[in-house]
Amino acid sequence: MTAPKLAITDSDPSSTTADAVVVGTVQGPDGLALAAGSEAVNAAFDGALLDVLDAVGASGKADEVVTVPTLGKLGARVVLAVGLGKPADDGSVTEDQVRRASGAAARALGGRKRAVTTLSALHLGPAVEGTVLGAYSFTAYKSNKGDGPVARVDLVAPAEGNIRAHRATLKASTAIAEAVTATRDLVNTPPNDLFPASFADRAAALAKAEGLEVEVLDEKALRKQGFGGILGVGGGSSRPPRLVRITYRGPKAGKKVALVGKGITFDTGGISIKPAAGMDEMTSDMGGAAAVIATVVLAAKLKYPLEVTAWAPMAENMPSGTAYRPGDVLTMYGGKTVEVLNTDAEGRLILSDAIVRACEDAPDYLIETSTLTGAQVVSLGKRTAGVMGTEDFRDRVAAIGRAVGEQAWAMPLPDELRGDLDSKVADIANVAGHRFGGMLAAGVFLREFVAEGVTWAHIDVAGPSFHTGAPYGYTTKGGTGVPVRTLAAVLADIAANG
Ligand code: BES
Ligand code: MN
Ligand code: ZN
Repeated sequence: MTAPKLAITDSDPSSTTADAVVVGTVQGPDGLALAAGSEAVNAAFDGALLDVLDAVGASGKADEVVTVPTLGKLGARVVLAVGLGKPADDGSVTEDQVRRASGAAARALGGRKRAVTTLSALHLGPAVEGTVLGAYSFTAYKSNKGDGPVARVDLVAPAEGNIRAHRATLKASTAIAEAVTATRDLVNTPPNDLFPASFADRAAALAKAEGLEVEVLDEKALRKQGFGGILGVGGGSSRPPRLVRITYRGPKAGKKVALVGKGITFDTGGISIKPAAGMDEMTSDMGGAAAVIATVVLAAKLKYPLEVTAWAPMAENMPSGTAYRPGDVLTMYGGKTVEVLNTDAEGRLILSDAIVRACEDAPDYLIETSTLTGAQVVSLGKRTAGVMGTEDFRDRVAAIGRAVGEQAWAMPLPDELRGDLDSKVADIANVAGHRFGGMLAAGVFLREFVAEGVTWAHIDVAGPSFHTGAPYGYTTKGGTGVPVRTLAAVLADIAANG
């Protein structure tokens, strides 16, 4: 995908020659109103912009895009009025309202050569992110690639002596958005082309481009070192599993953070096979791994003063004559044994191998993310991630997620669920004997593998990482890139506050 070229400007948006000038509208207490930043455009309309928009039915609601011709009054041919939704009582709008409106605008601008946006006058970074993310499309497998994204967007931001800060914001927000689109690209690549070995190659290429240290364990190395969970799950596929490690050591590295992500390149369910309807969506079961890979690369680009290691266990969960079975007992990395009662609860098996290994390096924080349970979607819906783990850190991660516009909610790990995972033959079973609290049971399983004293969080993104409906805001079809922006913001917060 080619992203739009972005530039910051403080020149008058009404005189800039462009295909379109973007202004924000809001649903104010008295109905449709113009957002701040639109003053010069309104003036060029002789103060009648609101009347014009009202006449063509604009309401200011989120995701609304209304186009009106400028009839030579402005340098741009049309005004694109994008709804921000309801402002706060003081008239302000949130960062995510701007991100979302910028995404809606970018989608509407596809194929144009040049646009100038005033949404950036509200919140610059979110306008950058929303523009890049909304302009995203995955056309690698299309013969007809379509019009492509808007080629260039000028972001209006009043200079007021802040030019250097604006440039730094542009750079950081662009890097964050590119980490999200890199994640989307990996998730959207079909499973016949993205399998453990090819996924590991792509991860290594991304990491090496930033000069990062990469280690890829193949099936032989995994066997030698006793990664029984990854080998068990990967055993049914003709395409053997991998464990990727990518390390970034920052300047004056402070805290050590381990990121672990689920990399099931396709989840058929294995011998406990899934129904056919919707199985195709299991191409997205590696979204956690893609997110942690993109995040460690981003940490390097933004030079966070941290040591960050991403761990990505990769396997394809297939039924075959060599597949693991319900009833098998796996000896995990580190020696714990697991009775497999359902081969479709495979994510926790590859993750616990990686978690034990990650804990050997004694990280200050461990953040694991995965498309782990259908129960996440049942309890929190398609757009809100479930966050579990060490209570303080869990709450911190969930709050940071919400602050960056990735909905997240803290969930408990009830102790009584541990008993439901008791196995007759092994140390623990991979599923409880019932369906209650399925997201939490998976978290309780993972907790068994986190070393004493390691502060950790588990982010279940089964719903939020993949979008099957119509595009909205900056969320396009397919991989969403969630939770990359949460992970990036948590790393930034740890870098700043420990
Ligand atoms: N990858 C799935 C979870 C999933 C479901 C992700 C829907 C995205 C959308 C996971 O491996 C799985 O199959 N989980 C089982 C666990 C069960 C067997 C305890 C589930 O949720 O049904
Ligand atoms: Mn599964
Ligand atoms: Zn899965």
